Amino acid sequence: VKWIKVGSYEEMSKIASSIFVKQLQNKSNSVLGFATGGSPVGFYKEIVKSYQEGKISFEEVTSFNLDEYVGIPSSSPASYATYMIENLFQHVDVPKESYHLPNGNAINLEEECLRYDKSIEAAGGIDLQLLGIGVNGHIAFNEPGIPFTSLTNIVDLAESTRIENARYFENLEDVPTQAITMGIQSIMNAKKIVLIAFGDKKVAAIERLYRGTITEDFPASQLLKHSNLTVIYGSEG
Ligand code: F6R
Repeated sequence: VKWIKVGSYEEMSKIASSIFVKQLQNKSNSVLGFATGGSPVGFYKEIVKSYQEGKISFEEVTSFNLDEYVGIPSSSPASYATYMIENLFQHVDVPKESYHLPNGNAINLEEECLRYDKSIEAAGGIDLQLLGIGVNGHIAFNEPGIPFTSLTNIVDLAESTRIENARYFENLEDVPTQAITMGIQSIMNAKKIVLIAFGDKKVAAIERLYRGTITEDFPASQLLKHSNLTVIYGSEG
């Protein structure tokens, strides 16, 4: 594991984006795995800047997002599809058919889960995956207790996660109770993984990861078994 300690959110965002820029410069048709939430907002700003400066193109890129809520329209302001369009896709030259998010409104959600893992596989697998981490150690929406063998699946959100994400909704009752998420094994299948975490709120989770005990009670811990993991972290304090 490569641990990179940073002194600011901006520094974290820049280092993470430079890894993705290098990836695209080496392989313009890379398959990228994207995350949403607060952590990668600065990362996407840097990526868009690199695109505007002509350093990278998304013309040949295929991307897969980690997760999406179940039961809110994909056009909702709080959906991860909207987040991705606003933070990245509308600013770069990615063809509409080249980016993918799980469909939280599929009529048959079980089938959608299988389809999603198959389409990642059909694209050749994810070359480089971006991840954030929840305060409880969740990655994507894999909450504590989920088997490490999980593939894309439908999950109940932990109450702590719903409260954490309520900031994107009008009130807590509007936060969906379920999501569709790539599983721990689907994430582990990526060739390279970059995990970003910044702020006092994330310190305990990063320390627990660093201590190194691998347990399903702390989903991120399985990442320690990955052969190419970079953790970029820091806090104000
Ligand atoms: C987002 C995702 C989540 C977040 C995590 C941290 O696609 O899968 O696991 O990465 O909840 O969220 P933030 O960055 O908002 O603290």
